[in-house]
Amino acid sequence: MKIVGTGSALPTKIVTNDMLTDFLDTSDEWITTRTGVKSRHVISNEKLEDLAIEAARKALDDASLKAEDLDFIICSNVVNEYVTPQLSCIIQGGIGASCPCMDINCACAGFIHALEIAESFHKAGRVNNVLIVCAEEPTRMTDWSDRRTCVLFGDGAGAVVLAPGNNIRSIKLSASSATDKLWQYRPLHPTPYITKDEQDVPLQMKGQDVFKFAVKAASKDISRTLEDAGVNADEVDHYLLHQANVRIISAIQDYLNQPAEKFPVNITDHGNSSSSSCPILLDECRRSSRFKDGDLIAMSAFGAGFVSGAVLFEW
Ligand code: UT7
Repeated sequence: MKIVGTGSALPTKIVTNDMLTDFLDTSDEWITTRTGVKSRHVISNEKLEDLAIEAARKALDDASLKAEDLDFIICSNVVNEYVTPQLSCIIQGGIGASCPCMDINCACAGFIHALEIAESFHKAGRVNNVLIVCAEEPTRMTDWSDRRTCVLFGDGAGAVVLAPGNNIRSIKLSASSATDKLWQYRPLHPTPYITKDEQDVPLQMKGQDVFKFAVKAASKDISRTLEDAGVNADEVDHYLLHQANVRIISAIQDYLNQPAEKFPVNITDHGNSSSSSCPILLDECRRSSRFKDGDLIAMSAFGAGFVSGAVLFEW
């Protein structure tokens, strides 16, 4: 397939590091040096589904396609205010499409997983035009009195439209179960048959374990993807990495032995927006004319599970 349109949408509320010091024992200096985040967009008076629909509409406009041209919609999402129906159905109605749709939850690696699904469905002859929307509100998952997690995240939606083409050169996904490193429980309704107390636990994270996994998995996924496509790291024009921590990005950059200019960063203004981070970064790079036709782009993401993946595609 080929990416023919991109779009993104962000909440209007911007929360700076200094604003967090009003209620948290933290500092701009700590957050900036340890993570690279200076501010983040946080859901307040908008709904995630509206951001998802806005990002989808922008991607369709950019692709000069209409909702009725779509054959499939995939939405990557970890939490939103509905347990059911799935967010992709809400997006389908919001943009006026009538094609089948599905949600996936592959944490921060959702965009790469969605690309693999779209590409595989296309290769099987089942779809031509596919909309992928990643819509996330991780700021609704964290405990805002826990300085170890809440400072990291931001909300937003990113979307792409894919059409037939030969631009995706290789995709590699991986998973390695480590469910105690990054997790959250939400309470389910009691039944007459379940007596255990239901727990409502906000996002829990073993930060250093996640950090080590991220560097290792992304380095390996990117290397496997490049090898599969017969491309060496120098030939790649842009590395778009999941925006979780600038120190993770620079460790991967060192591993690949590539210049910092090839690694666009927007975590400074967005924080970690989970699976939305890759398509938002892609959209911002595209709209700032960073890509030329034929450029090679490697993208990689990792998240809770652990799951991870990388893709190499031609612009
Ligand atoms: O999409 C995947 C999601 N998650 C990630 O990618 C997270 C990956 N991990 C990380 O990015 C880093 O591990 C963190 C940014 C989460 C933490 O950075 P770190 O350098 O690993 O710090 P640490 O956890 O070792 O904590 C160092 C100190 C601790 O104090 P003590 O015990 O040394 O006195 C923490 O309590 O920093 C303290 N600390 C803070 N201080 C000020 C933790 N959070 C904060 C904070 N402000 N916000």
